[in-house]
Amino acid sequence: MHGFNRLVVSILPHIPEKLVWIFSKRYIAGKYLEDAIRVSQSFNEEGIRVTLDLLGEFQSERKKIAYYKEQYIKTIDAVIEKKINATFSLKPTMFGLLIDTELCFETVREIVERAASASYFVRIDMEDSQCTDLEIELFRYLNKEFPGYVGIVLQSCMRRTLEDLKNMNDLNSQEYPLNIRLCKGIYNEPEEIAFKDKQEINDNYLIDLEYMLQQGYYPAIATHDKTLVTGAYKLLEKYNIQPDSYEFQMLYGVTPRLRNRIVSEGNAMRVYVPYGKDWFNYSTRRLQENPKMAFHIIKALFIRK
Ligand code: FDA
Repeated sequence: MHGFNRLVVSILPHIPEKLVWIFSKRYIAGKYLEDAIRVSQSFNEEGIRVTLDLLGEFQSERKKIAYYKEQYIKTIDAVIEKKINATFSLKPTMFGLLIDTELCFETVREIVERAASASYFVRIDMEDSQCTDLEIELFRYLNKEFPGYVGIVLQSCMRRTLEDLKNMNDLNSQEYPLNIRLCKGIYNEPEEIAFKDKQEINDNYLIDLEYMLQQGYYPAIATHDKTLVTGAYKLLEKYNIQPDSYEFQMLYGVTPRLRNRIVSEGNAMRVYVPYGKDWFNYSTRRLQENPKMAFHIIKALFIRK
């Protein structure tokens, strides 16, 4: 770990929240639902879609799980009322995935049911490798009842991803193309199961994406990496993929210039909008898991793109 990053990560828990907020606010819509709605509306005005993510993960208390379910339902209701062009992203550990799988599956099912009843889509974010099998199982479970209204994320850093894509082929159809967000993966995984080299992760990203395009899946191309955007463009052209058959996705506050370029070149774009009271834990946990992120955060303090 780079010495500077290590230093940032080690002092982070001791920095007052107010100070951390100064550099986190660029990446988080705000603490309240109204903040997420306001940010979403302004993206929609620019012709950009959003996916709303209520922050909070690794919950184990039933009371908190019920609380977060209610918060998601409130979010869905607000989005329906305001007619926002949005989807929802959620982390199953917020609903106790690793504590009580059945409770988690049923809770997420209720959320998807509410969204799907108004034709809104819910994406299951992919968490660390202890969750991969369970989150794919959850996706399969939900997809049976709500095809077209649920999707998942796969990570190109994982050696297993191409195999996972192939194993999901039975869920793909012309009526309901498999909707998979492909990202590099944010978690620090061991070498036995994950590529560690940036070039290998990028190579694998394009192999996975090419497979999805060959099979007629609907890929959500989630990256801020210019090389991958160029690689994706080449593949979209090679397979003559129409603009309504894929979208690009980026995180709120990250590389807005590249985002605007992709939009101006005629591509659909969706921005991931995280919000909620749990922003501090989210920011610090991300940094602890992947200290390279500290560099991005520190850079954001000084560089306004
Ligand atoms: P890379 O890390 O090489 O970044 C390229 C450039 O983008 C950097 O040089 C930097 O300038 C900029 N950049 C990237 N991330 C930044 C940041 N946070 N702050 C400031 N600058 C940044 N992961 C996961 O494991 N599970 C998931 O469910 C998701 N979901 C998800 C949704 C969406 C919409 C996106 C865009 C990403 C995710 N991710 C994720 C995160 C993803 O795995 C990955 O960590 C980041 O997107 C960074 O990878 P890039 O492809 O951007 O490349």
